[in-house]
Amino acid sequence: MKLSSEEKLRLKTSYGPWALITGASSGIGLELATRLAEAGLNVLLHGRRALALLRISQDLKERFAVQTDIVSADLATDDGVQELLQAARKKPIGLVIASAGFGTSGLFHQGNVADEVNMLRVNCEALMVLVHYFGNQFTRQNRGGIILLSSMVGFQGVPYAAHYAATKAYVQSLGEALAVELKPYGVDVLTAAPGPVSSGFEMRANLKMNMAMRPDQIAIPILKALGRQSTILPGFLTKFLVGSLRTVPRWAKVLIMQKVMGGMTAHQRIIEIV
Ligand SMILES: NC(=O)c1ccc[n+]([C@@H]2O[C@H](COP(=O)([O-])OP(=O)(O)OC[C@H]3O[C@@H](n4cnc5c(N)ncnc54)[C@H](OP(=O)(O)O)[C@@H]3O)[C@@H](O)[C@H]2O)c1
Repeated sequence: MKLSSEEKLRLKTSYGPWALITGASSGIGLELATRLAEAGLNVLLHGRRALALLRISQDLKERFAVQTDIVSADLATDDGVQELLQAARKKPIGLVIASAGFGTSGLFHQGNVADEVNMLRVNCEALMVLVHYFGNQFTRQNRGGIILLSSMVGFQGVPYAAHYAATKAYVQSLGEALAVELKPYGVDVLTAAPGPVSSGFEMRANLKMNMAMRPDQIAIPILKALGRQSTILPGFLTKFLVGSLRTVPRWAKVLIMQKVMGGMTAHQRIIEIV
């Protein structure tokens, strides 16, 4: 999938000259950063793995003749969030994509609570601080774009990924409301809620996905939706999965998600073996 030249121009003129992409060292963030560089935006790439970011930064600079920079910061820490904001302050940023995030799986009460707190900090707290900062910046400039990564699991409770799904419900709700609050200031907010995507996510969340989209299958629809809608279910698989549950009551969706997620988590696989 490719962006048309008109789309590239629209993104560059509406949201350039710099874009900040958190979680750009892998998966969805990396794909979005690549497509933005291809559209001619300079990219500030964030992640924790500095070496991976340096390699990506060099690659994008050479392929697309744009300026690139990196910021390595752990968003589970206050210091990391401040480092990210400090790096962001040095660039004329017009677009922010909050893609950094991870999931946990299994029975919530049996998980490591420190991991859950870290996930809450990265997926919700750091994202909120970032969006608050850029909400102020962009409203002052009367322009800007914000893309938040929620998930289709954020639309109902999800047994065996209970807390991860709750963090994504937070992101979805925040994004929907900010799209309305910031619109009069000329600031576009888009919340993207993908279904399963193959990336580093699966391994970190200890999940086994039976079907998944590639990051390139969702990146272009997400970028095209910015400024045109407030939520996107990117990719055919996402639309199919969410659409097939549309008429199901919320309590029943939770039970269906229990089945779906149960088949994907180590917890359920262990029960089946035993
Ligand atoms: N994959 C899916 O099925 C799926 C579906 C719906 C929504 N999402 C959401 O999409 C977003 C991107 O996920 P992905 O699929 O692209 O996963 P991924 O390939 O694992 O990428 C996650 C990114 O987040 C960064 N990150 C993780 N923990 C961090 C921390 N403590 N501090 C700073 N950065 C951190 C990682 O950087 P380092 O590796 O350098 O630390 C990496 O760049 C996430 O918010 C995820 O919840 C994913």
